[in-house]
Amino acid sequence: MKKASINGKIIPASEVAIPISNIEILYGFGVYETMKLRKGNLFFVNEHIDRLFNSAWVLGLGHEFTKKQLRKWIEELIAENNAESTNIKIILLGGDEQKLYMFLTNPLYIEKRDYRDGVRVITFPYERFLPQAKSLNMLGSYVAYTKAKGEWCYEALLVNRDVNITEGTRSNFFAIRDKTLYSPPSGEILDGITRKTVIECVRENGYEVVEEDIALSDIFDFDGAFLTNTSGKVVPIREIDGKSFGEIAPNIAGVVKFYDEYLKKLSQKI
Ligand code: PDD
Repeated sequence: MKKASINGKIIPASEVAIPISNIEILYGFGVYETMKLRKGNLFFVNEHIDRLFNSAWVLGLGHEFTKKQLRKWIEELIAENNAESTNIKIILLGGDEQKLYMFLTNPLYIEKRDYRDGVRVITFPYERFLPQAKSLNMLGSYVAYTKAKGEWCYEALLVNRDVNITEGTRSNFFAIRDKTLYSPPSGEILDGITRKTVIECVRENGYEVVEEDIALSDIFDFDGAFLTNTSGKVVPIREIDGKSFGEIAPNIAGVVKFYDEYLKKLSQKI
């Protein structure tokens, strides 16, 4: 039976309950993280905990949890579940009584051929509130993602009032030309852990990275585009709103491969 953790206390996952009167959960006044455990390797745990605390700070959500406590509770949750490969979700709820929930979730893997041929996405006009925080306020993203799913697409790209692409509902966005990657400024988006580490990895492999606004109207002037997130890693985009980039460019295939190698090397060190 799967176990979950509430404020560090391990209980059967089926017994986790949130009172219906909890205004914070109903109104989305909380922050969360999704991190990955693969073959027993927990990736970027400190980065995820740092971002959870930063998200809470951005929202003004006070709490008394410590980073050390969280690391210990995550380890206990993994051990209690004998977990090897899974995602771990952490939810921190604000209010009078702060609650920290941790539980296991199934990663959303994509098919091997999607890495080769790319995925289809749609665009959706929406600006996330306080975009640097990974908050539970997900209504806009949920509506956008539901529309994407309804059209058999992997993701919805969010487009802001200036008609620039900012990010996906649960992923970051990059465009590429030759050996230069373009990504929207980190102040306007959720600064993904995968985004950060992809940037580090490609720089080690001779690519340049530029942070600047990416106009939707210019997107097909690039060689191609891709998304990054914890479960998907680097996901090439084949089609935006039904218009195709054609075959996935070799420079994108390079990023997919370099990042897989980067994670493999890292897992030998964890
Ligand atoms: N989402 N942008 C948004 C709005 C996100 O929700 C996410 C992650 C990302 C990518 O961040 P990272 O590389 O740290 O996963 C970007 C996670 C996967 C989620 O919603 O569970």
